Amino acid sequence: MPNPTSLPAWAALTHHHQTLEGVTLRELFAQDADRFIAFSRRFNPDFLVDFSKQRLTADTLRLLVQLAREAGLETLRDQMFRGEKINSTENRAVLHVALRNRSGRPIEVDGQDVMPGITHTLRQMRSFCEVVNGGQWLGYTGQPITDVVNIGIGGSDLGPLMVTEALKPYAGRLKVHFVSNVDGTHLVETLKGLSPATTLFLVASKTFTTQETMTNAQSAKAWLLAAAHDEAFVEKHFAALSTNRAAVTAFGIDPKNMFEFSDWVGGRYSLWSAIGLSIALYIGFENFEELLTGAFEMDEHFRTTPLEDNLPVLLGLIGLWNRDFGGAQTYAILPYDQYLHRFAAYFQQGDMESNGKQTTKDGERITTYETGPIVWGEPGTNGQHAFYQLIHQGTSVIPCDFIAPAISHNPLGDHHPILLANFFAQPEALMRGKTEAEVRTELTKEGLTGEALEKLVPHKTFPGNRPSTSILVRQITPRTLGSLIALYEHRIFTQGAIWNINSFDQWGVELGKQLAKNILPELHDEAEVTSHDPSTNGLINAWKALRG
Ligand code: F6P
Repeated sequence: MPNPTSLPAWAALTHHHQTLEGVTLRELFAQDADRFIAFSRRFNPDFLVDFSKQRLTADTLRLLVQLAREAGLETLRDQMFRGEKINSTENRAVLHVALRNRSGRPIEVDGQDVMPGITHTLRQMRSFCEVVNGGQWLGYTGQPITDVVNIGIGGSDLGPLMVTEALKPYAGRLKVHFVSNVDGTHLVETLKGLSPATTLFLVASKTFTTQETMTNAQSAKAWLLAAAHDEAFVEKHFAALSTNRAAVTAFGIDPKNMFEFSDWVGGRYSLWSAIGLSIALYIGFENFEELLTGAFEMDEHFRTTPLEDNLPVLLGLIGLWNRDFGGAQTYAILPYDQYLHRFAAYFQQGDMESNGKQTTKDGERITTYETGPIVWGEPGTNGQHAFYQLIHQGTSVIPCDFIAPAISHNPLGDHHPILLANFFAQPEALMRGKTEAEVRTELTKEGLTGEALEKLVPHKTFPGNRPSTSILVRQITPRTLGSLIALYEHRIFTQGAIWNINSFDQWGVELGKQLAKNILPELHDEAEVTSHDPSTNGLINAWKALRG
């Protein structure tokens, strides 16, 4: 695969970026009354993406699309959909798209169609949801389940947590809870108020070896047995979502309560698999299928639409334009929807674990271009009263994605118009800014003159010209949410393809895990620790002294 900076389009983009130096978004809008039409796209009637407030022109888009073609994006995309082993360091296919393949088309890995296995697990999930939701699944005292606790971390937590929060309006009878942190506080606080007799634990772990998850699962089992007093009751209160049958059985969970998936499902892309069982239990299986369908619709769009109109590709290219040519180190995801309050946190893992890489697929160290940005964000309007100051007037440019539903699930008084007024105003303010002349006129109108006026002018001036994309969807439903998540997934894919990195491994998380395993036995006695660097030794020994 080529180094992207060696491609003709990269050189052309570098030159093109210089020609745009000093050109402002205000000017671009003034020059072209149809800019909004030219730089926005609809995915379906319910889904509008406006990137006209990005610092780009038709030439920029043409060159970015050329870059994607020269980098072989379409080839890699087609390889993914065909089940080829594009996760080269783990020798695995990347097939979360198969989990939501509603077309009936076979998808093969090593000559074997994976679709029958997926259909089998979906059927198993449907039956389980019917029985648990219907109140026929009984705990050890014969009472129906009321609470489901998902124990998992990373991809086995963030997706189900984000989606169940986002789709609260679709909740049924069951309450769901999520325990991820190995800090005992998380489990203890979650179990307060729950009854062992009516609680069902889902141990969600692709590997079933993750230290945090297995520690929490063991403690949850002890909590159950402290009340139920009989190991035989574990099967009524524990199910496993995993690829590791042997470890599930060793834990004591009956394999008939195991929901399987395959190693070609990456952890951060796994909410569509059995890992999504907490979602299906919470919103009902039909709504879970709607979520899959929404994602499938975006998959089809990504698979078949020419790059010029392909939304995930365009968003990926714009992000890359901001990162590599505009020098943006971070980007913010800002949903104007309280239900989407975990969306940015979810894509922190999705994006940063996928594209936080410094080595190309060919093993070369990357030194001439930037890869994955820092992803962060909080829901508007809360963010406006916290960190937007820096986005408006800080010294760094932070591209933003604004996301809002046209229709609220809670149409309370004037709340939604007020929320949306802010959703429309913030990108406008970022784009326009406020010139010195405008500030002077404003302050003069307020009666300020002379030194007092001049003192305030620089502080009240906004540079503007700050890029953003606005995504407006009719309503956050299971279907539109599925499409929205898949949009961001394929955006990440697009960037990884051009950066020539493997977006589907995560070796960078291993070193810390290994070191923690080495340290743990050292914490179990009083002996002074000397095996590390002076700082680490000092910290451990100080902890030993502090704990008394
Ligand atoms: O440590 C990172 C990671 O491997 C993630 O990629 C993954 O989502 C998470 O840990 C949990 O892994 P598992 O599902 O195997 O417990």
